[in-house]
Amino acid sequence: MTNQDLLQRSHAAVWHPCTQMKWHETFPIIPIRRGEGTWLLDYDGHRYLDGVSSWWVNLFGHLNPRIVAALQDQLGQLEHVMLAGFTHEPVVRLSERLSALTQHRLGHCFYGSDGASATEMALKMSAHFWRNQGEPGKAGFIALANSYHGETLGALGVTDVPLFREAYASLIRNSVVLPSPDSRLGPQAARQSLDALQRHLERHHGETAALIVEPLVQAAAGMVFHDAAFLREAYQLCQAYRVHLIADEIAVGFGRTGTFFAHEQAGFTPDFLCLSKGITGGFLPLSVVMTTDVIYQAFYDDRITRGFLHSHSYTGNALACRAALAVLDIFEEDRVIAANAARQAQFAVMTAPLEQHFGIRNFRRRGMIWAFEVDCDRADFAHAFHRAALQHQLLLRPIGKTVYFMPPYTLTDAEFQHLVDATLASLSEVLA
Ligand SMILES: Cc1ncc(COP(=O)(O)O)c(C=O)c1O
Repeated sequence: MTNQDLLQRSHAAVWHPCTQMKWHETFPIIPIRRGEGTWLLDYDGHRYLDGVSSWWVNLFGHLNPRIVAALQDQLGQLEHVMLAGFTHEPVVRLSERLSALTQHRLGHCFYGSDGASATEMALKMSAHFWRNQGEPGKAGFIALANSYHGETLGALGVTDVPLFREAYASLIRNSVVLPSPDSRLGPQAARQSLDALQRHLERHHGETAALIVEPLVQAAAGMVFHDAAFLREAYQLCQAYRVHLIADEIAVGFGRTGTFFAHEQAGFTPDFLCLSKGITGGFLPLSVVMTTDVIYQAFYDDRITRGFLHSHSYTGNALACRAALAVLDIFEEDRVIAANAARQAQFAVMTAPLEQHFGIRNFRRRGMIWAFEVDCDRADFAHAFHRAALQHQLLLRPIGKTVYFMPPYTLTDAEFQHLVDATLASLSEVLA
């Protein structure tokens, strides 16, 4: 097998995501033969450092041996059983351990397979809760400007990215969109967002089920940060007006922002917590919505119509749950949160040339996310940079003019240095 062979067949038979397929006539798809830790290897002997953890899912490197071993063991026991009327050890243990990580405040776990489904489940659960409480009018949602919560139709209703919504606008149920608390715009951005939230809740709390947020980092917006204080105040407003807060930690959970869950930094527990992506270390699709006992009890009844109705064949898949358990083991055994904090200080020395670079603005870091904007007029900047970086053995996919690093936590100092050096070299070429 060669790169050429596989890329042609892929172009013909596979419809790739987030892609205009025609562009691949001039910019070939890259066939990956093997993953090795932080690296992806193709068929022609090239390798690429996975600087974005393959769309933010891979926490501990490709083919991590501990996750592989757990899956091999699970394959000898049970691959899957329907979760309606049945249960199994991996899903029970995972639910107990996730719950313990929230100090059992979110003690009920409902599973899906992807992030967008988790968003859908949380939205449905919130509105259905109010209906069960005798308030069916509380069915509206609030989202932040530039937010991204997935691309199924329900999730697009709370996703504020025009590119993803435009063609499907007539199919989407809109939400209220508040200004983003984007910290690049100064502290007044958070204030304006909170004032808008308060004004909206004052008038519309009777029609509002929930506010959905990406805690601390609006990732797909271009790694847009906000302070924990914003989140805390938004939560307090939601509480005061009896509106749920859905924390979508699909991208930022599992240690990405420096704490295991991002909302921990704001010192509150959301009504719903959505997790996916890193949950299986990038091995298998799995998502979960965690919620409180108060919400769970509102569904607990003799009547099926008051139960939460979201039926999905692969709910709580045993293999995926087992991979997630292996991920939690690694967090504990390797004290990953503390280890990441220590390594970030070392990495700060290496990023200095980027921070001082003439073409870069807003260099920022939160936990294991680094981002900056590039001053460049080229309309094709993201594409050109992505291409240049690949030539330097690096996989990065800028969002507009924002370049970001979201590497696996296992990358070494030398690999981080490669990330910085290849970024600098790519910038020189693209800005030349
Ligand atoms: C915050 C957030 N929510 C939801 C999603 C959707 O997840 P998925 O791509 O698994 O549907 C994403 C994906 O990037 C995300 O970043």
